Parts: sequence; structure tokens; C-alpha cells
Amino acid sequence: MARISAGVTTSHVPAIGVALDLGKSDSDYWRPVFAGYEWSKKWIAETKPDVIVLVYNDHASAFSLELIPTFAIGCAERFAIADEGFGPRPVPEVVGCPDLAWHIAQSTILDEFDMTIVNKMDVDHGLTVPLSLLFGRPEAWPVKVIPIAVNVVQYPPPTGNRCYLLGQAIRRAVESFDEDLDVQVWGTGGMSHQLQGPRAGLINPEFDHEFLDRLVNDPESLRSLAHIEYLRESGSEGIEMVMWLIMRGALGADVNELHRFYHVPASNCAVGHLVLEPAANDSGGPS
Ligand code: DHB
Ligand code: FE
Repeated sequence: MARISAGVTTSHVPAIGVALDLGKSDSDYWRPVFAGYEWSKKWIAETKPDVIVLVYNDHASAFSLELIPTFAIGCAERFAIADEGFGPRPVPEVVGCPDLAWHIAQSTILDEFDMTIVNKMDVDHGLTVPLSLLFGRPEAWPVKVIPIAVNVVQYPPPTGNRCYLLGQAIRRAVESFDEDLDVQVWGTGGMSHQLQGPRAGLINPEFDHEFLDRLVNDPESLRSLAHIEYLRESGSEGIEMVMWLIMRGALGADVNELHRFYHVPASNCAVGHLVLEPAANDSGGPS
């Protein structure tokens, strides 16, 4: 059977992608950011997952205000790189895993989550920057990816609780797939940042550190964190962090923390990154 072997969270700051693509990752500004991912790059090169269920948000690249799915699962064979205004990033196309994606779609929908099934979806920095941070600049991504796009752009986004429950449903789906696959779940975006309005530039390390601690050790307490708290404490774009709860729900009650990194600032954003694995013998916790 397929199994979830690990979870990763990371910010997806677009300027990180630009720094990599233009060969500036060793500059004084960017070196400390990339240094925080060195451990993870080695770890993932050794663990070699087969598939990543990559939870991210589209930034008006594949979707627009004309169509706003709350949760969308990419079931295609491949996903093209979106043009975000300066041409697509020079990174490989993303190869999907249709069999498992359709199984997750079926399992979660019959589990009463209203997923939107997407068969054509260009993927933007929300998905490609996390891949670049963990895999660098390969000729082809060494892993299949199932994109799950979450609306955190247009009010109302899903609640943290709904995200956590979806993570648990994704775990049930993966564990009922009859193929021996090593699957990771990633939650991307965050941490504190606000790109607009009078509070543009807001960063709140105190909130971020507490969020990291609670995500690892007390995720139940984050299920009830209200949208207004994310907005007030972590800025308007800090709401991206609800996506981290999907990853966390998929890992089960107890986890081992393998790696943690936090750095400010990168562009307008606080960069946070975790690598977690389910604790041994964890059956997934209460559902
Ligand atoms: C920035 C961060 C984001 O998450 C994003 O989607 C766009 C910009 C930034 O820090 O500049
Ligand atoms: Fe973003």
C-alpha cells in the first residue's frame, strides 16, 4: 500500500525563485536563506519520495476571480509552468501522478470533501519555489507531484479546521491506494507577510515561532485559530498558513521534527520551513 512518509512546510516567496534562476543564491542577501535548506536537500536526495502531494495556492495564474475553487486537485499527466508576468520560470514542467490523484479525488469526495477535479492547470511560484528549494535546479524534477490548490486569495478561505480534516482524509486516501508508493505531503506559503495596504511589510516572528511550535506539538489547538487572528497577527497573506494544517493533518497525532528553519526577511516575507515525519506506530489519530 502507499504510505505517507514525511511532511514538509515551506514559504514560497517568488523572489527566491528569481534569485535561483538568475544565479544569485550565493549573494550576501540570499545565502542565509538557501543555507536553511541544505539539510533538507540532502535529506530528500536520500529519502527519494515517489510522489509529493503539494498543497499550495494559486496566485491568479491558473484561476482568476472568474473561478475560485476552495480545494482543487490536479489529476493531469503534466502541469505547465505559469507565466506570472515575466515569462514562465525556467524550470522543468511538473509531472503528475494521475492514478493516485484520481484515487485521492474519489476517496476525499466520497469522504464528503467537495474537491474540484482539474485536468489542466498551470502552476505558479506557490508550487515551483518549494520544489526549487528542496531539489535545486535539476533537468527534470525527480518526483511526481499531485498539486492541491487551496483558495487563500479571495475571502472566504477554508478554515484551519477544514484544512486539518482534509489532511486526515488525504491520509486515509493514500493509505488505501494499492501500490507501494512513498508519498510526502507538503504545505506551502506563509509565514507572516502582508503585501498590501497600510500594514504592508508586516512580519511577526513571535507569532511565527509559536505557530511552528504548535504545528509540531499541539496542532489540535491550531484547528480553532480564527481567520481574523491570522490576519491580525501574521498579515493579510499570512493566511496562507492554513495550508500547513493540511500537511499536519495528514501526518497523524504525533510527529518527529527532523528539521526547522526560520529567517527574516526574504523579500516581504518571513521564511519558515519544517521537515516532519509521522511518529512510529501512529495510526493517524482521531478522525
Ligand atoms: C511575496 C510572498 C508571497 O507568498 C507571494 O505569494 C508573493 C510575494 C513576497 O514576500 O514578496
Ligand atoms: Fe504567496
